[in-house]
Amino acid sequence: MKDLKDKVAVITGAGSGFGRELALLCAAENMRLVLADIDAAGLEGTQALLPAGTAALLQRCDVSQADSVQALAERTYAQYGAAHLLFNNAGVAVAGPTWTTTTDEWRWVLGVNLMGVVHGVQAFVPRMLAQQDECHVVNTASVAGLLSVPASSVYCVSKHGVVTLSECLHHELRAAGARIHVSVLCPAFVNTGIADSGRHRPPELSAANPLAEAYEARVRKAVRSGKISAAEVARITMDAVKADRFYILTHPNIKPAIEARMRDILDERAPTNPMP
Ligand SMILES: NC(=O)c1ccc[n+]([C@@H]2O[C@H](COP(=O)([O-])OP(=O)(O)OC[C@H]3O[C@@H](n4cnc5c(N)ncnc54)[C@H](O)[C@@H]3O)[C@@H](O)[C@H]2O)c1
Repeated sequence: MKDLKDKVAVITGAGSGFGRELALLCAAENMRLVLADIDAAGLEGTQALLPAGTAALLQRCDVSQADSVQALAERTYAQYGAAHLLFNNAGVAVAGPTWTTTTDEWRWVLGVNLMGVVHGVQAFVPRMLAQQDECHVVNTASVAGLLSVPASSVYCVSKHGVVTLSECLHHELRAAGARIHVSVLCPAFVNTGIADSGRHRPPELSAANPLAEAYEARVRKAVRSGKISAAEVARITMDAVKADRFYILTHPNIKPAIEARMRDILDERAPTNPMP
């Protein structure tokens, strides 16, 4: 989608990190914005950074809840009559060994990272199909959706789910002759709020991996070591939307690990650890 001016961009997780940076770039393209997040203060923080005069609708939305995302779509279409660019971006992370990861953690992370994308597709794609304009859906996965990283199984499962959902959606939309394009964003470590995801964890899903604290310190360190910024990830993502590129790999140094995984599968040998 090359011509973005006056088009409507909907961004989940717009109160921080990639979502905030995407909002700033969409505003710079003179798009009209719908900014959604569970964190109302984060949304206001993003709004405060927008150029004066930017049309922006702010909505508190919990992407893990289907009715909350439906309400977001209803408000978007009531306000603007359209949505052209959807970023299913909200996400959370936990770390720790699979055998001590709690059921609450599986419910929480899959609820936000995977079902959040499912809910976004359910709420917006039928409306986009009816709208008949050129549209684009960007689902935020991760390199964790292309690799199997030790002590990250719940996060990897959620992100592998987002990658394959995006691939299926792409095939379905092409087969339907739809004017909706799809991308899947797969960054490696970037310094955002992701290592502090617990700030939005629902109290009813609070049972934590007993080893989480030790592993979280590692995640925090890894995220802080990120070589590119959230702003750069957003720029690469917008370039991919304009070029209609499906896979968005922001960290080319990860490609050998992806290749090694594919080779392990084809050669039917045990998986190589991508982060020894
Ligand atoms: N930072 C990284 O290293 C990295 C790498 C790969 C992928 N990602 C993915 O990028 C996406 C954005 O994360 P980020 O790094 O900008 O982190 P972030 O914590 O800075 O931003 C995530 C946003 O999602 C929001 N959010 C959390 N739960 C929500 C819910 N239930 N409903 C709606 N909003 C919710 C948070 O309030 C926050 O504003 C996530 O999907 C994450 O998994 C991050």
